[in-house]
Amino acid sequence: MKIFETVSSTREHIHALTDKHKRIGFVPTMGALHEGHLSLVSRAAIENDNVVVSIFVNPIQFNNPDDLEKYPRDLEADVRLLQPYLKDDDIIFAPSPAEMYPRPETHQYDFGTLANVMEGRFRPGHFNGVGVVVNKLFRIVEPQTAYFGEKDFQQLAIIKCLTVIEELPVQIIPCEIVREPDGLAMSSRNVRLTTDYRSIAPMIYQAISHAAANIDLGTPLELKKIIAKTLNRTGLEVEYVEFADETSLQPVKRWNESDNIRCFIAVQAGEIRLIDNVKCPKQFGR
Ligand code: PAJ
Repeated sequence: MKIFETVSSTREHIHALTDKHKRIGFVPTMGALHEGHLSLVSRAAIENDNVVVSIFVNPIQFNNPDDLEKYPRDLEADVRLLQPYLKDDDIIFAPSPAEMYPRPETHQYDFGTLANVMEGRFRPGHFNGVGVVVNKLFRIVEPQTAYFGEKDFQQLAIIKCLTVIEELPVQIIPCEIVREPDGLAMSSRNVRLTTDYRSIAPMIYQAISHAAANIDLGTPLELKKIIAKTLNRTGLEVEYVEFADETSLQPVKRWNESDNIRCFIAVQAGEIRLIDNVKCPKQFGR
């Protein structure tokens, strides 16, 4: 595999591949790679001729300066983890902030109601920053397909919306959430959890998957209250918990408002913010 730090060297190598009609699959990441990221890379390698992985901790999508400063960074370890998945002419693109943002960024996207709820509501500016960087990356890499995890389900919806706004000919492939054996969704931030918070963090998945599987026990509002109460009792702090339609991401008040409902949650575990989501199984006669 080749590791490039500049836009021009990356473009040059990609053009050499596309001249040979190679199909390019792209996996954008912020590094600190784990099995969740690697599942995307592995799928991209199977479904395409070549893979490009970007590793860039995008400063403009962090609404919390402390989170940006403490975000884990280890390029050498990331390269080692990627090695088994990448061929000689696959690419790791690891630019500096100055390379990605030679001038201050002012672009503002309108993602409509997709960006008003959940992560959009609690992390102002976050999705705009994601949109700006992913648009830049898509224009550098020009992939046929790009792989995103359902771990960041709302981000996936925003990216699909971005490709419509920017009229980009890239197919967005959603990939399932990879979890630790105890159910905790894998995240680069998990390594920053204290031992105590790490031991109670699996309750997040337990609480939402139990609620999602038992929606006949109450209304969305009642179940949200039970989840929040259960988790807050353990010392975790629920920022939001929402049952929402998978496409519009708008919260539902009744189970029959949508055929495709997901339960979404954001929790503060000490200094670390964790998110997760699960699909509610379809139920007849609800
Ligand atoms: P990052 O958090 O590094 O995640 C990169 C990709 O890996 C995202 O598509 C994310 O959803 C996916 N991912 C993370 N944890 C996962 C898990 N446990 N299972 C499955 N997929 C998982 O998301 C970003 O970076 C950034 O916002 C980015 C899109 C790169 C733009 O800066």
